[in-house]
Amino acid sequence: MSPLPHPIDTPTPKTAGRVGIRVVAQRDAATLRRLLTENRTWLEPWEATFPGGGGAVPGTVSLRPVIRAMRKQQRAGVSISFVITYDGAVAGQLSVSDISGGAARTASIGYWISQHVAGRGVTPTAVALAIDYLFFELRLHRVEICIRPENEASLRVVKKLGMRYEGRRDRYIHIAGSWCDHDCFAVTAEEVGQGMLSRIGAAHD
Ligand SMILES: CC(C)(COP(=O)(O)OP(=O)(O)OC[C@H]1O[C@@H](n2cnc3c(N)ncnc32)[C@H](O)[C@@H]1OP(=O)(O)O)[C@@H](O)C(=O)NCCC(=O)NCCS
Repeated sequence: MSPLPHPIDTPTPKTAGRVGIRVVAQRDAATLRRLLTENRTWLEPWEATFPGGGGAVPGTVSLRPVIRAMRKQQRAGVSISFVITYDGAVAGQLSVSDISGGAARTASIGYWISQHVAGRGVTPTAVALAIDYLFFELRLHRVEICIRPENEASLRVVKKLGMRYEGRRDRYIHIAGSWCDHDCFAVTAEEVGQGMLSRIGAAHD
């Protein structure tokens, strides 16, 4: 059963300038697999791994069952998986996970972008679109992003979004084969006022 008092309907695609997010679909399987293969060296240091080993190397197996599982998770109301698009083409992924209802109304965001579009502000815009959806349509109250202190590029993303530093979580998530500390950044609906997108003045040309 959904942790929210209502099911999560599939959100409509969101765009700002050249950047967009839309819910992942089976038609994205081949493109995502290609990007995961081409970006192996780029993504590997920051990828979640299974404690104790196991699990296929991303890009080496079909993503169709994974996408099916993602859609099931959305129906259960616990997570929503988006693709990030740039000029309409799939360029990365953004996941909303650990959606909590009750008195918390919070969720966690994760993301990656293909190296060929890095440094164009695509991810901050995609995250702003997601946060505005979560606050204004899904009526969540808080969103967090947890980042390894070594991940300077990702730290720049939360800095651009003006997210608030909450503190260090020691050995919080299993990344690239070991338990890694993460710095947690958060934002609440009260803090964004008219929305995250208008706050960052996004619309990248
Ligand atoms: C973190 C990441 C999502 C940022 O996405 P992005 O769309 O490039 O974000 P931005 O355009 O705002 O750039 C962020 C920073 O990346 C760095 N950067 C810029 N161009 C770059 C390039 N061509 N290659 C690598 N890094 C670059 C800069 O430090 C930039 O900050 P700046 O704009 O203040 O100079 C992306 O680097 C990525 O996917 N990395 C690998 C996976 C990952 O770390 N995921 C997040 C885990 S928490």
